[in-house]
Amino acid sequence: MNKIHVNLKNDSYNIYVGDIFGAHIFKQIEELQINLTERQILIITNSTVAALYLKDTQQLIQAVYPHARVSVLELGDGEQYKNFDSINAILSHMLEHQFNRSSLLVALGGGVIGDMTGFAASIYQRGIDYISIPTTLLAQVDSSVGGKTGINHALGKNMIGAFKQPKLVLINPNVLKTLTDLDFSSGMAEVVKYGLIMDLDFYNYLAHNVAAINLRDLAVLQRMIIKSIQNKVALVEIDEFETGNRALLNLGHTFGHALEKIQQYAGLTHGQGVAIGTVMAARLSSKLGYLSLDCVNNIKNLLSSFKLPVAAPADINVTDMINAMSLDKKNINGTLRLILLEDIAKGIILESVDITTIKNIMVESGVNA
Ligand SMILES: NC(=O)c1ccc[n+]([C@@H]2O[C@H](COP(=O)([O-])OP(=O)(O)OC[C@H]3O[C@@H](n4cnc5c(N)ncnc54)[C@H](O)[C@@H]3O)[C@@H](O)[C@H]2O)c1
Repeated sequence: MNKIHVNLKNDSYNIYVGDIFGAHIFKQIEELQINLTERQILIITNSTVAALYLKDTQQLIQAVYPHARVSVLELGDGEQYKNFDSINAILSHMLEHQFNRSSLLVALGGGVIGDMTGFAASIYQRGIDYISIPTTLLAQVDSSVGGKTGINHALGKNMIGAFKQPKLVLINPNVLKTLTDLDFSSGMAEVVKYGLIMDLDFYNYLAHNVAAINLRDLAVLQRMIIKSIQNKVALVEIDEFETGNRALLNLGHTFGHALEKIQQYAGLTHGQGVAIGTVMAARLSSKLGYLSLDCVNNIKNLLSSFKLPVAAPADINVTDMINAMSLDKKNINGTLRLILLEDIAKGIILESVDITTIKNIMVESGVNA
């Protein structure tokens, strides 16, 4: 069992990576050894994940907390359910079952379930505890770490939310074996991101292990997950509330969020949007003289080798993209703020980039003029 400590001013916590569903190991996790005599626990999941992992999770939680009352809420599956209706369903369940401030939420699922569970935990009775059991690659390497929680709004992705750190994150790489190829490759967009913004050795490790990663070799996946988390934790620890360098984690996201929003969160997956956005950011970096064309091609090839798209879908146009991007919360005072690359493993934050250049890059990346 690997333990990664997240050292924050007020809300430090541990992330465990290993066979967390093994009862023996689960019982060793020190954070779970608290007395929960009166505590209510709600496991929040969806039907896909429930069919696969709910029974094990319930049994383990009940074994560790024999006196707690454990209930389950299954939400709709998909990005289109990351909205107020789902939050309302969680809050209503807790009120109907008389949850109090010492109740606990457990997120069992991918980034959608994790983001919503954390957000509900941040607002129920002004804040209660939650723990996270992320079950997608994307959630294990990215969304379960760092405390960004929230939901989408028709006008913009992740526009409503809060910073709320979990009490504990339990990661079992074994569960990735049941992910679809699409969801597995989506997670790889965020994995590649860490290499691109800050870690050359990791970027090279990924490039040398494409076959093993695509075959989901457990040892390689475990190493990849731990390295990704360590990179994210390093940025979160120095900038918990994203006032500075934590923004590097948004590489490709301003473009990607715009693509997701235009398709009403029911087209490209988040990871696919990030992959296309990353290539746009790389092209833009090259156009502005920061990055060589060789590097741009290298990045495209690596993303493609993980079966990620590197060009926009056919039905997207520049005006819609610019409108969607201008709402992104990474913008400051009306200026488009983008994460670009000075080199592989060297992300930079640029406050103002000429809009015509951005439009040209979009067109080069398959967006209709
Ligand atoms: N909070 C953050 O810092 C942060 C960072 C990155 C992304 N995100 C958010 O994460 C979300 C995307 O997360 P995602 O890619 O995990 O999507 P997701 O949660 O929709 O999961 C993808 C699919 O995989 C299924 N699934 C989950 N675990 C499974 C398993 N083990 N086996 C089989 N199927 C499984 C889900 O039911 C779903 O159909 C987006 O909303 C994005 O905005 C948040």
